[in-house]
Amino acid sequence: MNASLKSDWVARSLNSVWHPCTQMQHHETVPLVPVSHGRGAWLYDADGQRYLDAISSWWVNLFGHANPRINAALKEQLDLLEHAMLAGFTHEPVIALSEKLSALTGGVLGHCFYASDGASATEIALKMSFHYWRNSGRDSKREFVCLKGSYHGETVGALAVTDVAIFRDAYGPMLRQAHVVTSPDARQAQEGESAADVARRAAGDLEKLLQESSESIAAVIIEPLVQCAAGMAMYDPVYLKEVRALCDRFQVHLIADEIAVGCGRTGTFFACEQASVWPDFVCLSKGISGGYLPLSLVMTRDAIYRAFYHSDVTRGFLHSHSYTGNPLACRAALATLAIFDEDEVLRHNRERAAKISAALAPLVSHPKVKHFRNRGMMWAFDAVVDDPAKAATFSRRFFTQALQNELLLRPIGRTVYLMPPYILDDEEIDLLASRTLSVFNQVVEA
Ligand SMILES: Cc1ncc(COP(=O)(O)O)c(C=O)c1O
Repeated sequence: MNASLKSDWVARSLNSVWHPCTQMQHHETVPLVPVSHGRGAWLYDADGQRYLDAISSWWVNLFGHANPRINAALKEQLDLLEHAMLAGFTHEPVIALSEKLSALTGGVLGHCFYASDGASATEIALKMSFHYWRNSGRDSKREFVCLKGSYHGETVGALAVTDVAIFRDAYGPMLRQAHVVTSPDARQAQEGESAADVARRAAGDLEKLLQESSESIAAVIIEPLVQCAAGMAMYDPVYLKEVRALCDRFQVHLIADEIAVGCGRTGTFFACEQASVWPDFVCLSKGISGGYLPLSLVMTRDAIYRAFYHSDVTRGFLHSHSYTGNPLACRAALATLAIFDEDEVLRHNRERAAKISAALAPLVSHPKVKHFRNRGMMWAFDAVVDDPAKAATFSRRFFTQALQNELLLRPIGRTVYLMPPYILDDEEIDLLASRTLSVFNQVVEA
């Protein structure tokens, strides 16, 4: 593809596509990359320039681009059934996927409800919890609790339990008010405090709220172990144990939004496993379809499912989306889960993560790095940038510099993070680590 075609794509895109999560004017200085194809961990632009996709294209692409096994499964499914509505119909991919996911929870979360995007899964979990209490004759329980810095998506219901000012503030008057409680973010540790101490302190704040208001609270929604969009705020698993105990004690649902942290990202398939607790609802999306097709789902306990099972139609969960349980998306998810089993991905990721951590060691002691942290296949650190003007543009400058060094990295504010696909080989690990360090040096020294 020649350079004029590349600039043609950029011009046409800027003319006709409204890109997500973007102040479009920034594209006057920040490059727009016209991607032509992907292979493994790499994306290739229209003139053959390559970029190591170190954030798995917004955390979805677990086993690389154009994965031969997922491709083959989809091609086969395409010739069988591309789509059928799920109300009144069912099909093998959605059945097999629901059974498989339920088995991964040991049958604790026995039913799966499907949608397409993460935000829809959040909305479904909130609505199910609300409706459960109504069906149970406790319709005073209508409110929701989220964590400071929480992110659960950007549709109006999901935004109501999202506490990230830049996404939320413009729409504040449209949104339902949620209770926002202290985050267990381990970076808040005071002198002599451990991450577990911070987590217990944060749980104390939730306990106080529930003591006062549990009669009006339906559910607490959390991102287990890592609050991703808040800037990869990592916390101690004891928080999950404490929250589970509080939710039991005060009869409040626990919704685990594992949209970003699920599917092995934190080291276990579900992040909640690291605290040996099961929530009442788990939301999954992103990596579940291997980054192939939009798919989200909410898993829930059978006791909750049964509260909707009735001769009265209005007690049913009448929510739907046109593409609910799309067979191609479910097939991509089944192929993704098969790779987890066949390749013992969680075990190999432990080895891979140890190598990545070792390769990133020079950043741990870097004078301009604060709070270097890691959980499973996620790494993050905060850049120390004293000049406020430079701090404000850090993310964009880093993104641009990274592209020039064959890396796709897109910091959140001053937090640089890596969430690579689970397929990096030793050479790619070395390249990723050494280029991240050199891009960081170029940006903080500029
Ligand atoms: C934890 C979490 N929940 C929900 C969402 C929303 O997912 P989607 O962007 O697919 O609507 C995201 C997306 O980043 C997320 O990280």
